[in-house]
Amino acid sequence: MINYKLPKNFNLNYFEEVDSTMLKLKKLASEGAKIGTIVSAKKQTQGRGRHGREWISPEGNLYFSFLRRAEEYNSGKIFAPVFITSIALAKTILIFSSSIDLKLKWPNDVLINNSKVAGILIESFKNNQNIKLLNIGVGINIVSNPSDTLYPSTNLLKEGISISSEEVLKCFFNCLNLYENILVNKGIGELFKIWNEYTYKIGTKISVKLGENNIQGAYNGIDEKGSLLLRKNDGKVIKIVAGEVFVL
Ligand code: BTN
Repeated sequence: MINYKLPKNFNLNYFEEVDSTMLKLKKLASEGAKIGTIVSAKKQTQGRGRHGREWISPEGNLYFSFLRRAEEYNSGKIFAPVFITSIALAKTILIFSSSIDLKLKWPNDVLINNSKVAGILIESFKNNQNIKLLNIGVGINIVSNPSDTLYPSTNLLKEGISISSEEVLKCFFNCLNLYENILVNKGIGELFKIWNEYTYKIGTKISVKLGENNIQGAYNGIDEKGSLLLRKNDGKVIKIVAGEVFVL
């Protein structure tokens, strides 16, 4: 087993219990915490998921948030952090078990055997120097998962991967650096290529929840910015920048 070290550009703040690592990190940022600051906790009492949902956070799983700079709005890379984080998560899990059926579901869910094992929540804010930053929160089900969820969920242990949260955390930040470098040296197109290897096949039947509406159709890839392309049943392809995907 490789013994990963936390890369030097990250700085870990570990807590026994927090309300949410998102809130704790935002507070540290308001007090001057730098890019690369990580907040992780053994458990969260007010863990938050996407779409205002709760992220149930008992002891045993991995919960962390880290500070990253935001991409410029017109750079064409605005969604790069979403893709880098989800690819780094996928690679981390695959390092510990290469034989599992792992998939990334747009924009940023990680699934094993079609059940969610990890989620990402990204919030942007400005620090006291008016610099736009991203608070990137990651939850990974290491030993348990909630049972009453919108999607089926699972955990690494159940999928035969027995690994400590600490090892997963260190490995993740090494992978993250790798894909940040790919973005800088090869561009976002290369990241999309990698992401595409782990997602559903073009033509997979999906339903996308947009507010109160559900649109059904077929997955038609992502565009050059990372938006989802959905081929509706009438053949028209529409672009979706935010929504929730259900594989049918
Ligand atoms: C999702 O809904 O898929 C995103 C879940 C993100 C959960 C993580 S756990 C660490 C961080 N702190 C939170 O309160 N939420 C994120």
